[in-house]
Amino acid sequence: MLRRLHPEQPDSFAFTPANLAWAEAQITKYPEGRQASAIIPLLWRAQEQEGWLTRPAIEAVADMLGMAYIRALEVASFYFMFQLQPVGSVAHIQVCGTTSCMICGAEDLIAVCKDKIADKPHTLSADGKLSWEEVECLGSCTNAPMAQIGKDYYEDLTAARFGEILDELAAGQVPVPGPQNGRYGSDPLGGVTVLKDYEADRPEHNASVELATGIGDTVKRIDGTEVPLRAPWYRGEAEIGAEGAAPQAEAEAEPEAEAAPLVTPSKTLPGEDELATRKGSWTYEGSKK
Ligand code: FES
Repeated sequence: MLRRLHPEQPDSFAFTPANLAWAEAQITKYPEGRQASAIIPLLWRAQEQEGWLTRPAIEAVADMLGMAYIRALEVASFYFMFQLQPVGSVAHIQVCGTTSCMICGAEDLIAVCKDKIADKPHTLSADGKLSWEEVECLGSCTNAPMAQIGKDYYEDLTAARFGEILDELAAGQVPVPGPQNGRYGSDPLGGVTVLKDYEADRPEHNASVELATGIGDTVKRIDGTEVPLRAPWYRGEAEIGAEGAAPQAEAEAEPEAEAAPLVTPSKTLPGEDELATRKGSWTYEGSKK
């Protein structure tokens, strides 16, 4: 499948301050000279922030990592998890169509998407709120059929329940993710048969759903404030304005760590001249001018 940049692009991209702090901390995970290894997490955070990967976002990430734009585009266009076209302003729906889900009714779910969102995948609904696509196995086969919506899984779906979920999303609600047929997790339909002692005081939802409802980030555009920044490997964390500075206890236990960051984050962005050269040198269809 040929994946190209969308013909309509915004003029610019900038990480939010908290996302920028997070991104800079990720870069320090890698040895000096290997900052390009942070390309996937940074592109992913850009997509989490904007909903899809725009050309300015790809370029901004490439600049942060000292990469040629074409190399960043190669990564963005290779992985299908990166959306290169606008997605629904509320949610992008990813319906699993692989074996278990197909046997259990994925085609019915896709029919719901065609009916309620758009006839073709990667197309916005009439109100612009939703979009959809079929994806390969998402690893939740015991809860087939299922769909990923935003960051979370909606499992054990029926066409009727799936239609309700889409209606609720379009109305501004966020349905509770996880199994939709009363199952706690991937336990037997008739209830657990072993380890029953753990049933008594378990939380209302399984751990994944508890986390999703606790953070409330299922379909949220991520701005970096959802959870504290944790980068304990990066001892200069406070210097980059992270909200979650290194715990005091750790700083006291390792006083020598305050002398210098483990790795100095690359904050030197290309100058105007260099940027102009790069932008004038490459097109985004894989050819050099
Ligand atoms: S086949 Fe659908 S999650 Fe695995």
